[in-house]
Amino acid sequence: MINRRNLLVGGALSGAALAVTATPALNALAGGPPGTPGGHHGHGPGHGPKPKPKPSGTPPTGGPFRVLMPLPPVAAPIRTRGGVDHYSFPIVQTTAELLPGVRTPVLSYGGRFIGPTIRARAGRPVSVEYRNQLGVPANVHLHGGHVAPEHDGHPMDVIKPGKSRVYEYPNRQRGTTLWYHDHSHHTEAEHVFRGLHGFYLIDDPQERHLRLPEGQYDVPIMLRESRFDEKGNLYFDPFDFDRPVVLVNGRSQPYFPVAARRYRLRLLNASTHGTLTLRLDGLPMVQVGSDGGLLPKPVRLTELTLGPAERADVVVDFSKRRVGSKVVLEEARGPVLRFDVTREARDNSRVPDTLRSLPPMPKSTVNREVVLSTDFNTIESLINGKLWDPNRIDATIRHGATETWRITNVDTDFGGVNHTFHLHLVQFRVLDRNGRPPAPNERGLKDTVFIAPGDSVRVQATFSGFLGRYVYHCHMLEHSAYGMMAQMQIVR
Ligand code: C2O
Ligand code: CU
Ligand code: CU
Repeated sequence: MINRRNLLVGGALSGAALAVTATPALNALAGGPPGTPGGHHGHGPGHGPKPKPKPSGTPPTGGPFRVLMPLPPVAAPIRTRGGVDHYSFPIVQTTAELLPGVRTPVLSYGGRFIGPTIRARAGRPVSVEYRNQLGVPANVHLHGGHVAPEHDGHPMDVIKPGKSRVYEYPNRQRGTTLWYHDHSHHTEAEHVFRGLHGFYLIDDPQERHLRLPEGQYDVPIMLRESRFDEKGNLYFDPFDFDRPVVLVNGRSQPYFPVAARRYRLRLLNASTHGTLTLRLDGLPMVQVGSDGGLLPKPVRLTELTLGPAERADVVVDFSKRRVGSKVVLEEARGPVLRFDVTREARDNSRVPDTLRSLPPMPKSTVNREVVLSTDFNTIESLINGKLWDPNRIDATIRHGATETWRITNVDTDFGGVNHTFHLHLVQFRVLDRNGRPPAPNERGLKDTVFIAPGDSVRVQATFSGFLGRYVYHCHMLEHSAYGMMAQMQIVR
């Protein structure tokens, strides 16, 4: 018998209650039977003709640590004019070798499972053209970017098949680790799951003097959970919350040779649903940055938890281990990446005791309540009791206003449902969590915050820079796809 709560809480699942909502085009891509498109605007699952059998979840990985962790290549601008760097990428179906010897069909920006890395500079604008060569609408959102609404990849503002679109990113923000991903409404979870994601890094000349590790010692690492079927196809099911494979820069359990010195690792959890809990074999991870850039001061961690879409820049000093040592990064599911200390290297990097002072927090003049909940009967995900409606404005905000939002996850039933709250346009500060000061690594600028069942988190932000309409939502994209998304309008 199907128990609805299992759909959300994450039990194993099969049978007729599971309506497959993958789009026909994408199911064909995955080699599976065609489903039917789901309802619009966040209604519950549609009625697919036949649920796909759940795959075994034991793909042919070939064993741990046999493949090198690749680095997503940094894109070169196609031209630079008037101080603006221009890029152009197709959005295409392709295949990628996620598992050794297997070509897995994926969706991609620029023909790669992890799209080209854009390395921008603080204060210098970037413009990116995307040409949609998929058979379905898609779009691009720069997550954490301070961007005009028409360039933000609003869920209803998609690039139709065969069309292209230019997004402009002013980069008027401090250095940080951003990422870009699809945000096309109701298909965002599946699109991102199948590969529509990439890094967007902002380098900040003002941070040079800190001498954090840079160049080849500054390594972006995208972690994301996945499930494969026996043939090595990505298996997407919006209610499958048991995704056993954590891909690391698009590989299963790779290794990465490092020198015995400090590295800056830019960790991103690009999972559509799962939270990652990471440990590094007893080596401390010194967190220097979070979603919106550098923390005020470094935070030494032995364990790091990242909700979907959260980032952590950590400095790891591999000189604490001898050449020849192996250091395994473990996630709660098991080992995910092995660093092999293969050589000595000079190191004049450091981690200063103070990294930066955060911008002052003006007095907050508006309080809002944001309640995240799940209707276990309809399997709808709600904000303040409502489903996403693109024709409704949920919050009207005066430009320049500083506001305090209390976000509460009331999903404590049936063992609880996690949520992770994301605001577009701004970076916020976490004021408190359940009335207590936030963890030291949550004291920087953030755009995404994890909200455990029963938690109440207050955040404060100043809404300025642009007027217009932006979304806020749960970044468990299966939840936003099923309605846990709302809109704010910034007005004069
Ligand atoms: Cu990562 Cu609405 O975004
Ligand atoms: Cu975003
Ligand atoms: Cu959620």
